[in-house]
Amino acid sequence: MIEFRGVTKRFDDGTIAVNGLDLVVEAGTITVFVGPSGCGKTTSLRMVNRMIDPTEGTVLVDGKDVLTVDPPKLRLGIGYVIQQAGLFPHRTVLDNVATVPLLSGWSKAKARSRAAELLELVGLPAELGKRYPVQLSGGQQQRVGVARALAADPPVLLMDEPFSAVDPVVREGLQDELLRLQAELDKTIVFVTHDIDEAVRIGEKVAVFREGGILAQYAPPAELLVRPADDFVASFVGKDRGYRSLSFVDASGVEVLPAETVRAPAASGGWQLLVDAERRPQGWSGPDGTVVPGGSLYEQGGAIRGALDAALSSPSGLGVVVDTDGRFAGVVEAHQVLDVIESHRG
Ligand SMILES: Nc1ncnc2c1ncn2[C@@H]1O[C@H](COP(=O)(O)OP(=O)(O)O)[C@@H](O)[C@H]1O
Ligand SMILES: [Mg+2]
Repeated sequence: MIEFRGVTKRFDDGTIAVNGLDLVVEAGTITVFVGPSGCGKTTSLRMVNRMIDPTEGTVLVDGKDVLTVDPPKLRLGIGYVIQQAGLFPHRTVLDNVATVPLLSGWSKAKARSRAAELLELVGLPAELGKRYPVQLSGGQQQRVGVARALAADPPVLLMDEPFSAVDPVVREGLQDELLRLQAELDKTIVFVTHDIDEAVRIGEKVAVFREGGILAQYAPPAELLVRPADDFVASFVGKDRGYRSLSFVDASGVEVLPAETVRAPAASGGWQLLVDAERRPQGWSGPDGTVVPGGSLYEQGGAIRGALDAALSSPSGLGVVVDTDGRFAGVVEAHQVLDVIESHRG
């Protein structure tokens, strides 16, 4: 069991990322944290394995305040999976998975045979073990990320947007795989996503966060859909439960706004869109000049679902619009997309 008791995280610059969070994640369940970008999901997750420590309040794992446990020891019991898998590029797939067993003092042979078992568990053929991460598809890399996180057989698994970078079809396959695995392994899983469909599909309980790091509602998926706690949750989950029908509404009613772009990352205190010489978006340059690759794109004239996804997943809060040649055409704001969706619901 994981428990947040009055947990607040205030960063040095004054940003309140998580505000007075009270929440219990039951053992052996998949709990999903969902909400738009910047609402404190990642920060909440990282306070569990002490990559971030709270400013106020207490996080408990199995009744024990995590601040009283040495981080390396704590993390042996907590697997961590991130977007783009975060694999070591210069190690083979098998050695990537064997990393944690090796660190915990297993012999090389034993660690590798455990790694081979795990690859099978996550549905990957054994031959892939000899390859390097770059030789795998996005979906395969995510499976390797999951296998690696499971290597030490931790009771707790933290997953931060693990499937967000793969296409929707592969993503559904990975979700099914996770549900199958969980039926077998019975871990305590906290899964972060910005995608309400994904949240509702895999979560036994879903925590909806809003801007300012505030927990808006914590309930089983069906209850969220039937009895949203407020207007924010209602519009986020889709009032008429017709969120999927958004694929039939086009995004032409959403105003595309101009935005400045840059050709090289630079610390500017804000988010700037990085483009190449052909004005094709490359990613976002963050406030401190670090780059978040990829970048929340959707194609002009596409379905509004794509526009919403783009805006909600973007680190800057702006979805990036590209033309049919993949060139930058402008940005959209999530609240505008939501307004258009609302007007369609009438
Ligand atoms: N190291 C940091 N310093 C200052 N602000 C931060 C830091 N990390 C995150 N934030 C801010 O805290 C808020 C929550 O961030 P995060 O937990 O990453 O949100 P999410 O995962 O929901 O997108 C955002 O406003 C973000 O910009
Ligand atoms: Mg995040």
